[in-house]
Amino acid sequence: AGTGITAVLLVLLAIVAPSARGLDRADFPPGFLFGAATSAYQVEGAYQEDGKGLNNWDVFTHTHPGNIRDGRNGDVADNHYHRYMEDVEIMHKLGVNSYRFSISWARILPSGRVGGVNPAGIDFYNRLIAALLQKGIEPFVTLHHFDLPQELETRYGSWLGAGIREEFDYYADVCFQAFGDRVKLWTTFNEPNMFIKQAYMLGRYPPNHCSPPFGNCNSGNSQREPYVAAHNILMSHAAAVKNYNKNYKVKQGGSIGIIISMKFYEPLTNTTEDILAAQRAQSFEIHWFLDPIFFGEYPKEMREMLASNLPEFTQAEKSLLQNKVDLIGINHYTAIYAKDCVSSPCNLKTYEGNALVFATGERDGVQIGKSTALLGFYDVPEGMEQILKYVTQRYGNTPIYITENGYSQHSSNNMEAMLNDIDRVNYLRGYLSSISSALRRGANVRGYFVWSLIDNFEWLFGFTVRFGLYHVDLATQKRTPKMSAEWYRDFLTGSELVD
Ligand code: NOJ
Repeated sequence: AGTGITAVLLVLLAIVAPSARGLDRADFPPGFLFGAATSAYQVEGAYQEDGKGLNNWDVFTHTHPGNIRDGRNGDVADNHYHRYMEDVEIMHKLGVNSYRFSISWARILPSGRVGGVNPAGIDFYNRLIAALLQKGIEPFVTLHHFDLPQELETRYGSWLGAGIREEFDYYADVCFQAFGDRVKLWTTFNEPNMFIKQAYMLGRYPPNHCSPPFGNCNSGNSQREPYVAAHNILMSHAAAVKNYNKNYKVKQGGSIGIIISMKFYEPLTNTTEDILAAQRAQSFEIHWFLDPIFFGEYPKEMREMLASNLPEFTQAEKSLLQNKVDLIGINHYTAIYAKDCVSSPCNLKTYEGNALVFATGERDGVQIGKSTALLGFYDVPEGMEQILKYVTQRYGNTPIYITENGYSQHSSNNMEAMLNDIDRVNYLRGYLSSISSALRRGANVRGYFVWSLIDNFEWLFGFTVRFGLYHVDLATQKRTPKMSAEWYRDFLTGSELVD
């Protein structure tokens, strides 16, 4: 009888163990990447140094300072361009084994293809990569993270002219050639879905075009524009993947993919309408880019709703899309309720994409999760497991990297409040636990990057909200670890802080 009881106890222990034990690095497979992420415009600064060309964000923040919450810009940002050695050192202290960053296109090709390569730009990333590798930190590189050389912005209306495809292909090739012997993890685009929404629907990011029924600005007024720009991005991505697969992958032994911003949509009610609305929202957010990449076609819901506003893939484009990706990057921050707007009236300004879905954080007066500083971002860890399950099922178990996940706090001069970011610790712990639970259920997750290593320029919010594990004092550029940095380090090196 004794052995029977022990067996029962052991089984019980195995079931409750993960939650009782709390979060443990050993719950993640060996070789799992744990890192932190940044992007070029948000941290580098040095906007006019060493031959860098101006990009669309340099110009936009200078011409429209009023559009940025605190009127700031990325001229200096975190001065990472000059302080990268210190930043690599803090990564090393954290114990991360990977770092996700993006390359500034205008630093490499200041005016696009015609102007040629800027050797000082190549040199900067070579130095950064060397410093990372020296500390055993694997570089994870994104080619496009919103910033584009201004000359190309003007010449092609950003992503509207098909000529931008060759420009991107060329730029990607320069990067594969220059860095691919040491960079083994590549992503073409960061959040093209979010970028299109901000740049071509809501008119908020350059080139600041609006499309009905969104936004309220003077340029752009075509239902079709967002989808044309997205089409060009998809084909630019495909061309770069084709080139990588054909000319670099075997020789360099790396992988390539794309990063999509994904929320988890929970139907507001259990009516069929709201359930379909949640599916539609995912379609307009995730399938829009990943279906063409995996299945060679836009999703059915989009084709039906957008009709001729959605471009069609030519035969040549379809065959280009057959060049397969090796990984999917997921940026995941929040879950939200989805309410149908086909059969009931909704507030047009808060539509999700063009999916006729109203997104809300509340049901019966109760919030879906705790708010964070960025409006509409809630702390809902279960959403992570749901989204991982969803992507794993739909896209054939392709390796997944969580390329961004993080918590925003309001900026304040109260240093103590900034450093005691217990809410961020709880957020990160919750989301990592959710990933470990998804892993136990078979999700093919290979890595996780906290957004962000350091506080940085949060686009339209400037420095008014902060995502960093490290606080950055903008006057002195001093980096100070927050409680979350200590917590992450303790998690990575084997023990959790007791709190
Ligand atoms: C997504 C973007 O990739 C990144 O640039 C941004 O700072 C974070 N999310 C937080 O909003």
